[in-house]
Amino acid sequence: HLSAMCQNLGDLHVTGPLKDMNFSIPEGGAVRFIYQFTSEPPAVSFRATGEKDGIIDIVPRTGILFLNGSLDWETKAVHRLQVESLDEKGNTVKGPYTVTIYVEDINDNPPEFDQIMYTGVVRQNSRPGSNIGTLIATDMDEENTLNSRLRFKIESQVPPVPASNLFFIQQDTGILQLTSRSLNKRIASNYSLKVLVSDGVFQTICDVQVHVIDINDQIPIFEKSDYHNVTVAESLPVGTVILEIQATDGDEPGTGSSYIIYQMKEGDPNNTFIIVTDSETNRGFVKTNKALDFEATPVYNLVISATNPEPLVLGVQYNSSSLTLFKVFVTNVDEPPVFHKTVYKGEVFEDIPVNTLVMTVEAYDPEGDTVRYSLKGDVRKWLRIDSATGQIYTASTLDREQEEMYTVEVVASELTQKSKATFILHLSDVNDNPPLLAMDYPPFFCHPLSGGERAFIQADDADEQLWYSTFTFSLADDVNTRNNWEITKANATHAYLSPKHVNFEEKVYNVPVIINDNGKPPLERKVNLEGILYLMVVYHDYIS
Ligand SMILES: *[C@@H]1O[C@H](CO)[C@@H](O)[C@H](O)[C@H]1NC(C)=O
Ligand SMILES: *[C@@H]1O[C@H](CO)[C@@H](O)[C@H](O)[C@H]1NC(C)=O
Ligand SMILES: *[C@@H]1O[C@H](CO)[C@@H](O)[C@H](O)[C@H]1NC(C)=O
Ligand SMILES: *[C@@H]1O[C@H](CO)[C@@H](O)[C@H](O)[C@H]1NC(C)=O
Repeated sequence: HLSAMCQNLGDLHVTGPLKDMNFSIPEGGAVRFIYQFTSEPPAVSFRATGEKDGIIDIVPRTGILFLNGSLDWETKAVHRLQVESLDEKGNTVKGPYTVTIYVEDINDNPPEFDQIMYTGVVRQNSRPGSNIGTLIATDMDEENTLNSRLRFKIESQVPPVPASNLFFIQQDTGILQLTSRSLNKRIASNYSLKVLVSDGVFQTICDVQVHVIDINDQIPIFEKSDYHNVTVAESLPVGTVILEIQATDGDEPGTGSSYIIYQMKEGDPNNTFIIVTDSETNRGFVKTNKALDFEATPVYNLVISATNPEPLVLGVQYNSSSLTLFKVFVTNVDEPPVFHKTVYKGEVFEDIPVNTLVMTVEAYDPEGDTVRYSLKGDVRKWLRIDSATGQIYTASTLDREQEEMYTVEVVASELTQKSKATFILHLSDVNDNPPLLAMDYPPFFCHPLSGGERAFIQADDADEQLWYSTFTFSLADDVNTRNNWEITKANATHAYLSPKHVNFEEKVYNVPVIINDNGKPPLERKVNLEGILYLMVVYHDYIS
C-alpha cells in the first residue's frame, strides 16, 4: 500500500537526510505521502514520537513519513513530531529532529449566524440609511483568509410593499439599514427578510423580522401662536363653543402619539373653560364649563397647551409651538339679585307672639343695586318682611293645627330684575287645644234601666300625639251628678259612663264631664253629656 501512497508524490522534492523540517499540508485527506528520510549506516530504521494523533507516522524501515487519515485545520492546525534514526540495537543514531506539520486551511466550513433569527424594530418615517441592526456571522475557517471572508446579501423581503427593496445590508459588516423613507405601519407593520451570508463556497440563510413601530417623537404644533380674543356676555349659556383651535401632529394617525389633548395651561384656575377634541381631525372646541361672571372675572388671559396622551420619546420635548394664546373678554349683563340660599327653613313654636323675628333672608345684586324684599303666597297673612333688611316677622298668631309647614316665597327685586327663594316655617306643637268629645251623638240608655248599663265615651284632641295620648275623665263636682252617675276609665282615650241606680225617668239628663289631656300644663274641658234615656218599646216599634 505504500506504493499507492507514493503515487501522489508529483514533482515534489520528497527525499532527504534526517534534520528539522517543516511541511505545509492542506487539510482533508487528499495527501498520503509527506516525505522520505534517507538513512546512513549504522542507522537501519526510524522512529517518530509526538503529535502523531493516530494519523501521522513514519515507516521504520523505509523512513517514509505518511498520513493515514484527514488533517483538520479547525481541530489542530500544527502537529509537532520528533523523528530519530536507530541502529540495529534500537539506539539513537541521529536526532531527535523536529518535524513540524502545518495544516493549511481550506474552505470547508459554512458561515454561521450567531442567532437563528433576528428581530429588529424600525420607527415608521425613519430616514433613509437608518440602522436597524447588525447581523453577526462567523466562519470556522482561518481568519483573515478568503475562506472566512463573509459577504451579506438580502435574498428576499416579504411583503414587497410598498416597494421590494426597502432594506439594504452592508455587504461586509452585516449592518441592516433602511433604503427608503416609505415605511408606514399601516401599509405593513412587519417584514420578513431572508438574509444570506456567503464565504464564497458555502452560504447560510437567516430570517430577520423587522417590525415597524410608531414612536411619539413629534409634538403637536399649533397653526397659530395667538388666537387673539373673543368678547362674550356673562349670560352666555354654559357649554357654548367660543373658539375652535387646531394643532397638527406628525405621528401615526389614530394613535395616542398623534391624538391631541388641549388644556388650559394658564389663566383658568377654576376650570371655567373646557376644550373638547374631535378625535378625527384633532380640532379643539373651547367651551364654557361654568357660568361666566363679569363682576368676578372680566378678562381671561389664557394659555392653551396641546399634548399627546402617549409620552414623548426621550430627547423630544414640548416647546412653545405646542402652546397658543387666547383672551376672553366678558361683558356685563344686568343680572337678577342672588339669594344666598334657594330655600330658607325655620322652626318656631306655634304660640310665639306676633312680631317675633323668625328668619332673615339675604340676596345681593351682582351689579350692586339695592335689593328690596317682599313676600308672595302668604295666604294666611301670618308673616311680614322688612323690605330693606329681609327680616321676616310673624304678623299674626300662628296655628300648627291649621298648617304645620307654612311655605311662602321671598322675592328680592332691584330696578329691573327679581328673583325668588322659598321660606318654609315649621311650626312646633304647643298644647293649645283642650280635649273634645269625639262622638257623633251622645250616649243613650234604654228605659227602664235594668242595672249594669254603661255607655262608651271617647275624647280627642287637635294637638300632637304627645298631648292627647292619655285623657283623664271625671265627673263635675256636684252632688246630683255624683249621686246619679259614675265614670270609669276604659283606656287612654275612652271611658264608660254608667248610671248608679235604675230609678231614672225617661228624659234627657245633662251629665257634666271633665276631660283633661296630659299636656304640660294639661288642658281641661268641661262637657255636658246629654245622656238620653229612651223606652225600649220605641226601639221595638221601630224595628217592626
Ligand atoms: C491506517 O489506519 C487504519 C485505520 O485506523 C489502520 O487500520 C491501518 O493499520 C493504518 N495503516 C498504517 C500503515 O498505519
Ligand atoms: C406581521 O404582519 C402581518 C400583517 O401585517 C400580521 O398578520 C402578522 O401577525 C405580523 N406578525 C408579527 C409577528 O407581528
Ligand atoms: C376662582 O375662584 C376663586 C374662588 O371662588 C375666586 O376668588 C377667583 O377670582 C376665581 N378666579 C378666576 C380667574 O375666575
Ligand atoms: C419646536 O420643536 C419642533 C420640532 O419638535 C420644531 O420644528 C419647532 O421649530 C420648535 N419650535 C420652537 C418655537 O422652537
